[in-house]
Amino acid sequence: MRESIKEVLFSKEEIDRRVKALGAQITLDYAGKNPILIGVLKGCYVFLADIARSIDLDCEIRFITASSYGISTISSGDVKIGMDFDFDISGRDVLIIEDILDSGVTLTALKKFILSREPASLKICTLLDKPARRQAQIEPDYLGFECPDEFVVGYGLDFAESYRNLPFVAILKPEVYE
Ligand code: IMP
Ligand code: MG
Repeated sequence: MRESIKEVLFSKEEIDRRVKALGAQITLDYAGKNPILIGVLKGCYVFLADIARSIDLDCEIRFITASSYGISTISSGDVKIGMDFDFDISGRDVLIIEDILDSGVTLTALKKFILSREPASLKICTLLDKPARRQAQIEPDYLGFECPDEFVVGYGLDFAESYRNLPFVAILKPEVYE
């Protein structure tokens, strides 16, 4: 696995520090509230596990699936949103937890879908942001790191379902996917 790595971008230690700081900020910002954290599968799973344990609040944890080429059910633009969305979010403070904001197409569709269910508030927390590739007008409310315009893996992010279990975020060697 590691021979496919070109460069480690964010080490385990850097990620740990940043995620704890984000969790502390969210704890302050949502003081007295019970937010629902909605993780966008599958890329969110490591980030969500870590950040949820850095948020010192009573929060509900839910998951949603979203993909632009998935086999799922509800289509919102080109993005398919999984129908396992069977919980009530009206009047609740919702925080979407995502691995990476890239073109922004996925999160824009998700945002629209969630807003149609009338939450009290909706914010976006993403580990990585690749602003260079943005097509939709959308920005994260909470951000781990800005990411260069490279294909990255690890800490939940995959290439063809591999590399998710790397403890750091790394740039994959282009020959792996070319
Ligand atoms: P967007 O709709 O283009 O913003 O796509 C976001 C989704 O694309 C993310 O949730 C990831 O699953 C995937 N993605 C985008 N860039 C990368 C990357 O560099 N590595 C792995 N997955 C990526
Ligand atoms: Mg994803």
